[in-house]
Amino acid sequence: MDLKVILVVVLATISFICAKDTTYELIFSDEDLFSACPDPAPGTLDVHGFADLSELSTTLGAEGMSISGNLTLLWDIQPQDRVKAGIKLLYFDRGTWTPTFYSVTTNDYCKGFYDPKLPWHMFVYRHVTNLEDVKDKCITPGTKIIFESYLLSASMKMAKLREGFYKVQVTYQAFDQNGTERPTRICWEILGNLQEVSNV
Ligand SMILES: *[C@@H]1O[C@H](CO)[C@@H](O)[C@H](O)[C@H]1NC(C)=O
Ligand SMILES: *[C@@H]1O[C@H](CO)[C@@H](O)[C@H](O)[C@H]1NC(C)=O
Repeated sequence: MDLKVILVVVLATISFICAKDTTYELIFSDEDLFSACPDPAPGTLDVHGFADLSELSTTLGAEGMSISGNLTLLWDIQPQDRVKAGIKLLYFDRGTWTPTFYSVTTNDYCKGFYDPKLPWHMFVYRHVTNLEDVKDKCITPGTKIIFESYLLSASMKMAKLREGFYKVQVTYQAFDQNGTERPTRICWEILGNLQEVSNV
């Protein structure tokens, strides 16, 4: 899997569903964490077009997912590009993936990307050991993001949600300075089974 942006995003994704009332556990079905999006538009790359995850280790154990190693960004965009990113949480409702309220789109992903005030910081960035080196690079290809070894706690506080199968879908599009979209875009998904642990 990937961490940096990936994990970053992945984890970022998880953090967006944080809220107040109930504790849930998100159970990942697979150590491979990332799937390709179904029916992708032409030019769509999955997570392997986004980053080289070969040096990133994700291990699923009783305690959750442990993460260590590093990842290198691969997506062929230019440093000045504007990146539009979206994170959507979908629920599997009677055979159909249905959007939920948890959906975030940003038209300028790199602006404030490593801002420690942002909610995903606690899941991802604070585990990045070379944050000072990479924070201005956003998702420029060749950037290597190094993680300390940590346990991704999948327990979190959230607003009321139904138990069941969810997926988080992450998309990126890049636009050059004239506003023309780059020939490739990114889309990947993470599937999990959400179980309620306790009420507060
Ligand atoms: C990246 O991860 C690999 C595998 O864990 C490790 O061997 C390598 O030293 C790491 N590179 C850096 C720069 O941390
Ligand atoms: C933007 O458009 C101008 C004028 O058409 C062109 O010269 C320039 O190369 C374009 N820049 C990019 C990044 O495509």
